[in-house]
Amino acid sequence: MKKSMQELLSKNREKISEEAAEGIFQIDEEKIAEFIKEVGNYEIDYIPSGKIRKNLNTKYIGNEIYSFKEVESTNSVAKFLSRFGAKEGTIILSEIQTKGKGRRGKKWESPTGGIWLSIILKPDIEPSKAPIITLATGVAVAKTLRGMNIDARIKWPNDILINHKKVCGILTEANAKFSTVDYVIVGVGIDTRVDTNILADDLREKTTSIDNETPEEIEEYEIIANFLNEFEDVYELFKAGEFDEILYDWRRMSQTIGSYVEIKQPLGKVLRGTAVGINNQGALILELENGDLKKIISGECIIREG
Ligand code: BTN
Repeated sequence: MKKSMQELLSKNREKISEEAAEGIFQIDEEKIAEFIKEVGNYEIDYIPSGKIRKNLNTKYIGNEIYSFKEVESTNSVAKFLSRFGAKEGTIILSEIQTKGKGRRGKKWESPTGGIWLSIILKPDIEPSKAPIITLATGVAVAKTLRGMNIDARIKWPNDILINHKKVCGILTEANAKFSTVDYVIVGVGIDTRVDTNILADDLREKTTSIDNETPEEIEEYEIIANFLNEFEDVYELFKAGEFDEILYDWRRMSQTIGSYVEIKQPLGKVLRGTAVGINNQGALILELENGDLKKIISGECIIREG
């Protein structure tokens, strides 16, 4: 019987850590290549990586694509591979995620019918700059959907909405050592043809899927390739420090700026006001009812009007 991806990963994880403990395995490039090749052999190709590649015009994003039938979370696989030498721009895809991760520790429903994708990045940046990668990813997703004549908008910090309903979420996980970043994993979940009726009541009302929003034929491989092309452009801007350009696009496609919003902060605090901007660290600027301006670094944003 064919081994599942989980079995394979846990087997290799044990093998690698045992050998590392014995001092046999340091960071051995050949072994890493062997490991990645072995993982790659379990590729199921539900979205054929060859078709994605044909539509790519990137220099390095998508040079390696691992496309699986089922994993716990593409972000977890990406983290694992990046620790063992996977290169910047490597993509992990899966048809299903059994433990898809959302923001703030929430579960991300990942049945068949979506694009569940992670990108491995190894930028030479200070950890404080990592949130801009999330905003940049939102810009790339929104541009991709707009290229399909869909009026996609960005809700702070990183949800993509169509007709006020969420179609895509982004989870960025960074591993920082002191003042440098080891790797950044950008996880993107796009509902392309998810049956929203299977979602829990509270989610169903707020969620949509691309097939509900366009009469056009949906080809996942095309959406992925277009997104990766857009992503590389915006990531290059990020690496060049051109944050203003990224933020200009973010603001232009934002659903949040100008809206009256409620921000649910950790520990249950709720703030209300008009979102008037974002700064170049990705924080939302809220004008409170008493006219004060407040910088919001994290929290759940609910658009009440606008
Ligand atoms: C959110 O809560 O809005 C973020 C959702 C991010 C989901 C994606 S799907 C691919 C990647 N793997 C995960 O486990 N999560 C992200």
